[in-house]
Amino acid sequence: MDANKKFRLGVLGSGKGSNFVAIAEAVATGKIPAEIAVVLSDVADAGILAHARERNIPAQFITPGQFRTKLDENAECAFVAALQAAQVDLIVLAGFMRVLKGDFLRAFAGRMVNIHPSLLPCFPGLQAWKQALDHGVKVAGCTVHFVDAGVDSGAIIGQTAVPVLDQDTPETLHQRIHAAEHELYPHCLAALARREISVNGRRVLWH
Ligand code: GRF
Repeated sequence: MDANKKFRLGVLGSGKGSNFVAIAEAVATGKIPAEIAVVLSDVADAGILAHARERNIPAQFITPGQFRTKLDENAECAFVAALQAAQVDLIVLAGFMRVLKGDFLRAFAGRMVNIHPSLLPCFPGLQAWKQALDHGVKVAGCTVHFVDAGVDSGAIIGQTAVPVLDQDTPETLHQRIHAAEHELYPHCLAALARREISVNGRRVLWH
């Protein structure tokens, strides 16, 4: 890679985009030495697209097709084409609510990361904060990990723990986890952009 070329992020999200905002602020202040090349969403009115446009970052809705939890083949092609056209070095999933498969995974193998609101491998899947509360754990948290073919199963890059309090509701615990995510994701992305991270099997090493 050209040493003068900035590390380029492609961010995918389906929701309100609070992690995207934390990442965009860390990019703007130079904490993450990268640029956000493009933001893509499968939801036309997702907050993440509005946040990107406010910051003059290219943002695009791509119709996901007929399925509820994955992209159809045309959508997969359209996402891959948009990310390749934007010449991204790393795909950053920030609340993207579809499982990525096949050609998408192959196109960006080892170059996709996700944030999940639990201390993986506990509580993969939906509403992880509620799963944690229902299970009665005393410590919850969030995980940044590489994306592989499974659900929330790739090698773990970073984790932050938060306490579960007796008076917690799903909402209060979710808020505490979300606040931790806003610190953890920029921290991990900064290390990835600086190429301070290597992978040895399931172990991700920080240099
Ligand atoms: C976060 O809780 C993240 O862990 C999960 O989706 C949520 C996205 O929230 N993958 P936001 O859209 O960044 O506010």
